[in-house]
Amino acid sequence: MTSVQDRWGRRLGNLRISVTDRCNLRCQYCMPEDEYVWLPREEILHFEEVSRLVDVFIELGVDKVRLTGGEPLLRRDLPRLIRLVVAKPGLRDVAITTNGVLLAAQAPDLRAAGLHRVTVSLDTLRPERFTALTRRTTHGEVLEGIRAVTAAGFTGTKLDTVVIRGVNDDELVDLIEFAKTVPAEIRFIEYMDVGGATRWSMQNVVSRAEMLDAVKGRYGGVEPVIEVTTAPADRFRLPDGTVFGIISSTTAPFCADCDRSRLTADGMWYLCLYALAGTDLRGPLRRGATTEELKSLITGGWTARTDRGAEARLALRERTPLVQIGRLKADPHLEMHTRGG
Ligand code: GTP
Ligand code: 5AD
Ligand code: SF4
Repeated sequence: MTSVQDRWGRRLGNLRISVTDRCNLRCQYCMPEDEYVWLPREEILHFEEVSRLVDVFIELGVDKVRLTGGEPLLRRDLPRLIRLVVAKPGLRDVAITTNGVLLAAQAPDLRAAGLHRVTVSLDTLRPERFTALTRRTTHGEVLEGIRAVTAAGFTGTKLDTVVIRGVNDDELVDLIEFAKTVPAEIRFIEYMDVGGATRWSMQNVVSRAEMLDAVKGRYGGVEPVIEVTTAPADRFRLPDGTVFGIISSTTAPFCADCDRSRLTADGMWYLCLYALAGTDLRGPLRRGATTEELKSLITGGWTARTDRGAEARLALRERTPLVQIGRLKADPHLEMHTRGG
């Protein structure tokens, strides 16, 4: 399949589909506010509409799809969408990123629907920290959900940990040990100054270099895994063969290899995670646009793409959160939880 390329020669390959902007946690790094403005219900795409857009994206080169949220397991009847998506020839990877709270009940249905892989966010192994970080008391459900993924027969499971100074930066080794037992590959994510991260400050970012030092301190040699991918994580191998990843979007961005774009639950299409503007696909879709018209809209957007959001942020001298709270309330599309990460 030939793929559309942007101005930097990056191909359109990976589509992240947010299926809802709602979430059942309130992580400090993503949803720290007391109140949010939600997308209007009638604007949320129906599964058939999402499926139609996925067909168009596949024709333009997309071969990986990831379902995100908010929390995607809050979307009613999600296995029906998964069935529609996994049936499409041309997709080599269909995964989900979830916070795990509802996974224990849903993992078997996700598996039966044909989902390929599951990634679960897990920032801490300590229930009291989980509550402080998420303002919810469902840590036990998350751990149970992670176990249920393996029990349902999934492989290739990943755990994502956003590392924040003074919050969970002393748990890297414990999390690596926990991941071995799942088994899952854990990735440590640098705290990013994306929309919605209104409490972000550079002081709270634990850099990839610091994370590597902490892991080396415990395990000794840490070897980089040599590979060419468009994945955001750089992978490392411990002496016992365990592999873990670091996603260093804040201090060492990977924009040059970025093949991602994101579709919000209401059908807005964003390229960069940091982009302030997107393209409305719901409007044309609901007005009866032909496949050729949708293709040309998407091709036009991608071929004009020049953004390298995380690199531009890195170049700033004074770094403060991307979007201020008033603007987030006026346009919830700027929120990370609407855009799906
Ligand atoms: P696979 O590598 O295919 O398993 O998926 P993934 O790592 O792309 O997906 P996941 O949802 O697990 O992403 C991990 C985290 O990386 C996200 O939650 C974000 O914090 C970050 N991330 C994802 N996409 C981007 C991106 O385009 N740019 C930047 N800077 N960070 C991203
Ligand atoms: N920094 C880094 N990652 C973030 N995520 C959300 N907000 C941030 C942020 N400020 C990502 C994490 C989390 C997923 C739901 O979204 O990977 O696990
Ligand atoms: Fe891609 Fe933007 Fe993330 Fe860079 S910051 S990797 S361009 S989405």
